[in-house]
Amino acid sequence: MINQNDQELQNEEGFREIEITVFKYNPQNKESKPEYQTYKLVETPGMTLYIALIKIWSTMDHHLSFDFVCRAGICGSCSMVVNGKPRLACKTRTSEFENGKITLLPLPTFKHIKDLSVDTGNWMNAMSVKVESWIHAKEETDISVVEKPIEPDVAQAVFDLDRCIECGICLAACSTKIMHDDFVGAVGLNRTARFAIDPHDERSDEEFYELIGDDNGVFGCMSLMGCEDHCPKDLPLQTKIAYMRRKMVKV
Ligand code: SF4
Ligand code: FES
Repeated sequence: MINQNDQELQNEEGFREIEITVFKYNPQNKESKPEYQTYKLVETPGMTLYIALIKIWSTMDHHLSFDFVCRAGICGSCSMVVNGKPRLACKTRTSEFENGKITLLPLPTFKHIKDLSVDTGNWMNAMSVKVESWIHAKEETDISVVEKPIEPDVAQAVFDLDRCIECGICLAACSTKIMHDDFVGAVGLNRTARFAIDPHDERSDEEFYELIGDDNGVFGCMSLMGCEDHCPKDLPLQTKIAYMRRKMVKV
């Protein structure tokens, strides 16, 4: 726990005070009304929004809800809208905001659970089923046999797309997702590209077309680049969407 004396001590050491305004609402509670609440706290060196929210939770508001697991940009659970842009809270430093004022909202397009907490997991699971996000081989896999080797550059390309952490930021930054609720988004299209370039997957372009050859798939994307601009893993999303679209147009 950080008490008032600690805060005063830190202020004496020259740290600035910052203001974090958080959207608070519990849709499960009929009496809850959407509102903003502002918390003032002393910024410490290297402070991330993860650290700031933990400080708020432990010293000021034990009812505040938000999601974190890894605090290292790996689990994808801490996505939220930070001063209007979807970002990972654990990888966002408070020092980036010169005036010290930060507003946090839950990620749009996902089911709102409470305050900054949303349910990305069920959506990601449904998307994985929809795009059949697993290797399709004609023959049954014999796990006693060593997997067929693939070219290093192909393996690297597959690995690159596998770096997706399912944070949902590409969907929160996507206008198509707002218009088409069933749009699989850059995360889903990236997933199909990952399997389309993997030689272990023997699906034909026609089979991929059945999964993503419509407005909820590759033809829904308007190439506004919001996904790629905000993806915290810098995945080449637009290039891979274009790759899948070229394949689907030929079907
Ligand atoms: S593609 Fe990027 S932004 Fe989208 S879910 Fe994966 S890591 Fe997050
Ligand atoms: S807490 Fe895991 S990505 Fe931020």
